[in-house]
Amino acid sequence: MPKLAIVSVPPPDFYTGAVIEAEDLRFRGPFIADLWATLRTNHVLLKAPRRCGKTSVMEHLRRNPAKDHLVIYENVQDLTHPADMLLTILDTFRDAHPTAFRTLIKGWKGLVSRLPKVEELDVGEFKMKFREHEHDYRAQWRQHGDVLLAQLRTLGSPVLIIIDELPDMLLNLSQEDPKLLRDFLSWFRDKRTNPTPKRDTIHWLLGGSINLSTTLDGMALLDRINDLEDLPLPDLKPAQIETFVTEMLGGRGVTFEKQVPARVRKLLGRPIPLFLQMLTQELHRSWRMKPRKLKPADVDAEFDRFITGTSAQDKLQHYYTRLSKYYRDPALSQAHAMLNHLCVSGEEGVSDNALRQIFDGTCALGTLPPVHERKRLYRQLLRDLENDFYVVETSAGRFDFASGIMKAWWRKYYA
Ligand SMILES: Nc1ncnc2c1ncn2[C@@H]1O[C@H](COP(=O)(O)OP(=O)(O)OP(=O)(O)O)[C@@H](O)[C@H]1O
Ligand SMILES: [Mg+2]
Repeated sequence: MPKLAIVSVPPPDFYTGAVIEAEDLRFRGPFIADLWATLRTNHVLLKAPRRCGKTSVMEHLRRNPAKDHLVIYENVQDLTHPADMLLTILDTFRDAHPTAFRTLIKGWKGLVSRLPKVEELDVGEFKMKFREHEHDYRAQWRQHGDVLLAQLRTLGSPVLIIIDELPDMLLNLSQEDPKLLRDFLSWFRDKRTNPTPKRDTIHWLLGGSINLSTTLDGMALLDRINDLEDLPLPDLKPAQIETFVTEMLGGRGVTFEKQVPARVRKLLGRPIPLFLQMLTQELHRSWRMKPRKLKPADVDAEFDRFITGTSAQDKLQHYYTRLSKYYRDPALSQAHAMLNHLCVSGEEGVSDNALRQIFDGTCALGTLPPVHERKRLYRQLLRDLENDFYVVETSAGRFDFASGIMKAWWRKYYA
């Protein structure tokens, strides 16, 4: 019998913050298949706490579209007007699908007459020229949107429009012009429901690193997204965590005792993919500096070193900075007080009652809202803390940081 040559594939690079390239994305196959299937009949809101891999999944969809699909991805974080979102969609479509773009603009009289030689405009130039020719392009956003979607529907191919960081854009709108925000959300909902997603060739995948539901709930606008199908990105499973550690270390020639992957899993708690990558990379670095057979005790030592090290400081500081960016007092002070209390708790966590008292105690005297409103705000803050700091209800009525890294880091620097 001829011998089979065993070709070992090198493990992917470590990604410690960047969006994962489609060919390096692992463990998401079944979810992505489910997502494509759901998108056939629904518009989807992709949900997951921060840094769990939402954008990486979106990137995979963009790079590996389902049959015949034209996919575009848009990060709208810095946009402040619906007209900019629509124009960006058109511009990206032009760059990503030039052939379909030519068909798209063929019957689009207004666009061609306003922008002669539209096909010849360079990347980026298109948006600029459009704005030059269309001085009131912002005032006309609804008409532009109607035409853009109608034109996309004439293409015959299914089009998937991925909008990332949508909550940020909505917050920008709410600060600049609350009426415009309401108008946009109503228009956008109308466009998603008429025609119904099942009959539409345009499909929307929406997401972002802050929680869209609590953002809109806080503005009493939650009903404007109630047509969306919520799809939570699942946590990585224990076996996947161990496979990751085994392959990322083993594939680099690192030797380790067989309890090492389980020890990584235990210390991580809820496996936030970013933290999994960071800790495994630290183990690899430590082994490179001093090649040896890694033991579970080495994992503990690297975990402690990691919390105090500068690379983690830079990456985790971001979580802290976002508090002052997205939380307004009294929620900002309440979040600090609750996190300070949670981070010094033992494995049993903190009771709902105790957190509630901290929450109430942080409201300035004389500004206490009525009880029912306080309850709503408290629940909303808990949902935000789950999204941003991985605080979860670990058992009935008890809360704790689900991530060991986040808990240790908050305790070390901020408690
Ligand atoms: N499938 C995966 N396997 C291993 N690590 C992953 C996976 N997906 C994401 N990560 C890790 O998470 C990091 C963040 O990924 P990504 O930017 O896709 O997350 P996100 O949920 O969009 O983050 P944010 O909430 O900040 O927008 C990556 O750099 C990588 O460290
Ligand atoms: Mg993201």
